[in-house]
Amino acid sequence: MAVALVVAAGRGERLGSDGPKALVPLAGRPMLHWSVDALAATPGIERIVVALPPGHEQDVPEGCVGVTGGAERSHSVRAALAAAGDAAVLLVHDAARPLLTPELTAHCLAALDEDGGWDAAVAAAPVTDTIKRAPVGLAVEETLQRSALWAVQTPQVFRRAALEQALSHPDAELAAATDDAMLVERDGGRVRVVAASADNIKVTTPLDLELAALLLQRRA
Ligand code: CTP
Ligand code: MG
Repeated sequence: MAVALVVAAGRGERLGSDGPKALVPLAGRPMLHWSVDALAATPGIERIVVALPPGHEQDVPEGCVGVTGGAERSHSVRAALAAAGDAAVLLVHDAARPLLTPELTAHCLAALDEDGGWDAAVAAAPVTDTIKRAPVGLAVEETLQRSALWAVQTPQVFRRAALEQALSHPDAELAAATDDAMLVERDGGRVRVVAASADNIKVTTPLDLELAALLLQRRA
């Protein structure tokens, strides 16, 4: 059995809403509730821990364990992990991805246990743009081979020891890490990608919020 850690403690500065992003109304309910429902509908998840913004602990969805998040995302993951009991598998998910489905969640959990000695399995969509590496204002150094590139999302599923080791990196490294799995990779862990739909979008800007509402309405 796995425990889900949902990080919802960000301020949502780029969205520019009144309150925290995870609690912004989206298709009729707080954004956070969409992810929690998908996780609750996934077999194999025994508990859902939600890291909430300080002062919003009372907004924990029914049936979840609420904890107070930290100043950085990694601090919020750590706070949630501390309330996860002794689960051997942890699933980390951003509340900012409300299009999560039970199917994708189940695929990530199953991928961790397939042969290969995996330490982590992360949802990711194939990249559709051509990606070039270039210092700003200078000549392009490289055009990357697109067929090998993935745009990484959450959920990200981890063996407990791998996630604990990742979160034990110095704060500066944690702050610079754009996902949890890259720290596992740096520690020599085996991370695999699980093909996900590009519509598992992250809500960052007001445009994303509009798109998420349309996608959720289409689903209903
Ligand atoms: N998060 C968190 N604790 C933090 C920072 C972020 O739990 N201290 C969570 C967010 O709630 C979100 C996820 O991490 O679900 C991804 O972060 P991001 O999309 O950057 O959300 P915000 O930090 O809220 O947005 P912004 O960076 O625009 O302020
Ligand atoms: Mg942020």
